[in-house]
Amino acid sequence: MRWLIELSGEHPTLPSAEAAACFEALKARATDVEVDGALMTFAAEAKPELVAERLALSHFVNEEIATGAFEDILAASEKLDLAGARFMVRAPARGGSVRKSVEEKIGKALAGTGKVDLGQPEVTFRVHEGKKWHLSRVLCKVNRTEFERRRPANRPFKKPVMLHPRLARALVNLSRVSYGGRLLDPFCGTGGILLEASLVGAEIVGSDIDGEMIAGSRKTLSHFNRTGRLIMADVGRLPSLVEKVDAIATDPPYGRSSSTKSESIESLYPRAFQAFGQLLKPGAHLAICLPEERHTTMAGPDLKLEETYPVRVHGSLTRHFTVFSRSR
Ligand SMILES: C[S@@+](CC[C@H](N)C(=O)[O-])C[C@H]1O[C@@H](n2cnc3c(N)ncnc32)[C@H](O)[C@@H]1O
Repeated sequence: MRWLIELSGEHPTLPSAEAAACFEALKARATDVEVDGALMTFAAEAKPELVAERLALSHFVNEEIATGAFEDILAASEKLDLAGARFMVRAPARGGSVRKSVEEKIGKALAGTGKVDLGQPEVTFRVHEGKKWHLSRVLCKVNRTEFERRRPANRPFKKPVMLHPRLARALVNLSRVSYGGRLLDPFCGTGGILLEASLVGAEIVGSDIDGEMIAGSRKTLSHFNRTGRLIMADVGRLPSLVEKVDAIATDPPYGRSSSTKSESIESLYPRAFQAFGQLLKPGAHLAICLPEERHTTMAGPDLKLEETYPVRVHGSLTRHFTVFSRSR
């Protein structure tokens, strides 16, 4: 099937990277990938509900029906056989407005075999204009409100270092952890990454050098009815405490407000990368937020840099969402 994912557009490259990684996590590699503004199209085989349940940085998961000039998608609409199904057409434009004339033209073409129903449609078609025109059918809508329910303000244990759940979920997806796979967050802090990993069905292991953070992570998980293994330990001790893992997703201290227990980043990060190399199974991924791009060079030879995306937090902090793979 050919998919069309409507990306959130909240970052120029991270949403499409998250979507591609999500398909890999579902063992469904996307091929023939094209990105047209906030639309990503590709061929892959996967269950749409599973895709929509995992994604954070997208709005809709659709099947692409036609692409090309407007006349091409109009002709494709005329050829579709809706077998009497009730349908609706939406043509969203920039700034939240809709293009009524486009909706009417495509709607008229589809009405040959279907029935317009704006109240309770069985099928919703979406039309987008990017570099090309795209006609797609909605398979699932991503529930973005769910992430707001878990935002820092709604949690029992809060610290200024927390990642927003949408970004924590994107990091989990970048780690490619599969349902039932074991994910480690070795700098778990308040437990937000562990929570998102648990919600995609991963078996979670969290650790932190600070006992208050371990207690806080436990509170976070139990508040959302999740459980996991939590260990109070320095990152360097983990290879002797934890069995090998399928993925690591983590947001280490940046040496600013979040504590490193007085250790410099220049000492902590190489030690952490060395432990990650020992902890990851061959071929597994590490998804990590780094404060500077130069930190990507601190990883040892057994960790291959795959991708990195700078996400600006405020004037003096940019998180580089970075993915490494463990050599086989
Ligand atoms: C940026 S915070 C993690 C924030 C987390 N993502 C969240 O949403 O709450 C980094 C964490 O690393 C922990 N830490 C610092 N040095 C450590 C070390 N050597 N080993 C393990 N954890 C350490 C700190 O206690 C802190 O909780």
